[in-house]
Amino acid sequence: MADRLKGKVAIVTGAGSGIGRATAELFAAEGARVACADVNGDAAAETARLIGGAAIGCRVDVSVPGDVEQMVADTVTKFGAVDALYANAGVGGSGNAIDMSIEEWNRMIGINLTGVWLSCKYALPHMVKAGRGSLILQSSVRGLVGIPALPHYSAAKAGVIGLARQIAVEYGPKGVRCNAICPGTIMTPLVEGVWRAGGGIVGAGGTFEEMKARAAAPHPIGRIGTTDDCANLALFLASDESSWITGVAVPLDGGMTAA
Ligand SMILES: NC(=O)c1ccc[n+]([C@@H]2O[C@H](COP(=O)([O-])OP(=O)(O)OC[C@H]3O[C@@H](n4cnc5c(N)ncnc54)[C@H](O)[C@@H]3O)[C@@H](O)[C@H]2O)c1
Repeated sequence: MADRLKGKVAIVTGAGSGIGRATAELFAAEGARVACADVNGDAAAETARLIGGAAIGCRVDVSVPGDVEQMVADTVTKFGAVDALYANAGVGGSGNAIDMSIEEWNRMIGINLTGVWLSCKYALPHMVKAGRGSLILQSSVRGLVGIPALPHYSAAKAGVIGLARQIAVEYGPKGVRCNAICPGTIMTPLVEGVWRAGGGIVGAGGTFEEMKARAAAPHPIGRIGTTDDCANLALFLASDESSWITGVAVPLDGGMTAA
């Protein structure tokens, strides 16, 4: 298939790496013009360069309101609209509810939850004005079920699901859909970083391949996910093929949360 996003303008945050880069590339391949946004401005620019003429790179810290407002303004100035937003930027972490510092907690909530809301806050007026739009919010299986470690990450990702439902209900009548994606383990630099720091669901120890095998175990399909798995779902939710789907949190987890 091609042209599933023909004529649409999309913003992808966290587009400098992992899931965000793969999704920005797929959106563009399906006909969208894409603003590739990331706190790492060089990485955002590199994703835009890989895509070519239909993309721009933006440096944005999604936890900073002025940055996010500028990202949306630059997109509208360049491409004239915002039809889809994939609020994907996020960070990993480590720790437990006893030892967590307030600084670690606040940083996580600031990026992984407040950053998602800010992205919606500034994109929504353009969507409401146009009478159409699709907001895709990046959550996690950790937003759906309890998993050891990362209490701040789990809280942020559960908050994202609540935000998606609230926006879906309030802005559905104005033509804007809002859904959350809840991935299990997807092989990206974020996951690699968490594993190397001894965090995440697989714990410390062993070789990288042993950690990967342990990470695959809770997913009944028998493997961890790929960035393409995530990009394909984001594409569906951004496209008009999902025009009657709103307010849902879609597990993308090889059956993990069904077990
Ligand atoms: N990889 C997984 O297993 C997995 C599972 C569930 C959810 N997620 C979520 O998917 C999203 C993408 O993760 P990934 O695995 O591709 O990670 P990644 O580290 O490969 O990419 C994340 C990108 O976000 C950017 N970023 C970080 N903080 C930012 C900020 N304040 N403002 C703007 N950009 C910022 C980083 O620079 C990076 O380019 C995250 O929200 C993550 O929580 C990932």
